[in-house]
Amino acid sequence: METREDLNSILDFLPLVLRSSALFWPSAVVEALKAVSKGPEHSKVDSGEVLFLAISDLRQSLSLSAGSLASSTADGFSLYFDDLMSRAEANIWFGEVLPAMADLLLRLPLLLEAHYKVADSITCVGARDGIKTGLRMLKSQEAGVVLLSQELIGALLACSFFCLFPNSTRGANHLQVINFDHLFASLYDNYNEKQENKIKCIIHYFERICSSVPVGNVSFERKVLSTDQTLNYIPHPKDESWSKSVAPLCLFEVCSSGLIEDHSKEALEVDFANMYFGGGALTRGCVQEEIRFMINPELIAGMLFLPCMADNEAIEVVGAERFSQYTGYASSFRFRGDFVDKKDIDIMGRRKTRIIAIDALVNPGRRQYIQEFLVREVNKAFCGFSDPCKSHQYQMLFKDAHSSEAELDHDPKSLESSSDNLGICQSASVEDEVGIATGNWGCGAFGGDPELKAMIQWLAASQALRPFVVYYTFGLEALQNLDKVTEWITSHRWSVGDLWNMIVEYSSQRSKKETQVGFFNWLLPLLSSDDPMILDP
Ligand SMILES: *[C@@H]1O[C@H](CO)[C@@H](O)[C@H](O)[C@H]1NC(C)=O
Repeated sequence: METREDLNSILDFLPLVLRSSALFWPSAVVEALKAVSKGPEHSKVDSGEVLFLAISDLRQSLSLSAGSLASSTADGFSLYFDDLMSRAEANIWFGEVLPAMADLLLRLPLLLEAHYKVADSITCVGARDGIKTGLRMLKSQEAGVVLLSQELIGALLACSFFCLFPNSTRGANHLQVINFDHLFASLYDNYNEKQENKIKCIIHYFERICSSVPVGNVSFERKVLSTDQTLNYIPHPKDESWSKSVAPLCLFEVCSSGLIEDHSKEALEVDFANMYFGGGALTRGCVQEEIRFMINPELIAGMLFLPCMADNEAIEVVGAERFSQYTGYASSFRFRGDFVDKKDIDIMGRRKTRIIAIDALVNPGRRQYIQEFLVREVNKAFCGFSDPCKSHQYQMLFKDAHSSEAELDHDPKSLESSSDNLGICQSASVEDEVGIATGNWGCGAFGGDPELKAMIQWLAASQALRPFVVYYTFGLEALQNLDKVTEWITSHRWSVGDLWNMIVEYSSQRSKKETQVGFFNWLLPLLSSDDPMILDP
């Protein structure tokens, strides 16, 4: 069975044992979980303090060393469940939710067996055929998809809560911690309300799934740019693919208020990611990516099997359900109660929420104006925004660009007609309406130039043949002229190549200190003037 290979790639990272080709919990774990599943009268697990003791016993039965947990984990559990949580909520938590989580954990081996059985037989993801979907390590430079049921994800996240995943080889395999020990330990080490509210989101998620098991699916995909044009890969643009691109710029809409995750039209919603998917979600982080992981906790499951992203990679997650409302950002982040996710469901049982993780350059400073790094950023965004079903069309676009001055036929219809050559896509049409919902990617903690990053994302979306970009400025002052600039550029009918070349010229001047102004003012010096005529062609 092909899926045994999949299982083998991840077995060392799971807490289960494989015996005569079936998965099991060790019997001591089964006994302990059964006790917890019968409720506090039976198990005595009725406080954070005792819960941690139960967790320690479970870990011992799995031969996980006590020393590999964050040192304040016990204090964190006790602080959260015994001091911060109300007695009424704690009664429900220990009386109902925790027993249901233990039940779910007991079913993990069966859920995995069922998962591999289905993964063996299905071959179709979205419009793509012939794709394997079994749970496995999605290693760097290997494009691929893992499709999990929400129930299996719930069981995996329960493992994280009980700190049952083996941790010892994760770092060496470029994987982050996946257990929740640091989440609780940092609550105690450095108490702050945002950390408490992050945990509230996670606790709320377990309360929800234990009262009603969600029935959908979530897919996790590693997207890879490659010159190797085999199944699943996206063509890797070269420098001149950008300068010579004749692709038209897509629509660009600016929203000065609102949030990406509230965008109602179907779109790829950008996660301003860390190269390690999830960033500081399970430690102290609480900015854009981490907040998304708290309100859509199923994203966390990807941290189990998606090692660090390389420059030519992106991660796409389809179907993660949102469970929580929130307000604030960073230190002001607060859980604000239940959220009922009303997104439509696709034919594979996934919510039509598509989250694209792309990691921007970290603290690029002046480096971001050097062409090599401009290309890195635009290719990263292109990787995230692209639709693997359009690989062939992208190739045609690039080929056209590379065959220099010769006037080629750029009729979009001629591109479409060639799209079936690759044979892995049944129909590309489902993706045609899906644009990009994004914002200040890599501009907060990462320190990128927001004017440049907005343009780079526009280029990438256009080259990926997306119909639109909706840009949430989060009220950023540097972008108050973003709508004027994009309108001006649109009215001049620039192609991707035109805008790219202008950005390269600006960046070259900026890196040589020949200019100090932002791109918008450099391009349109009279922009801040109130005279509308000045912007006329
Ligand atoms: C989830 O995916 C599996 C495998 O493709 C499929 O059998 C199942 O019907 C899907 N669930 C829903 C709710 O569509």
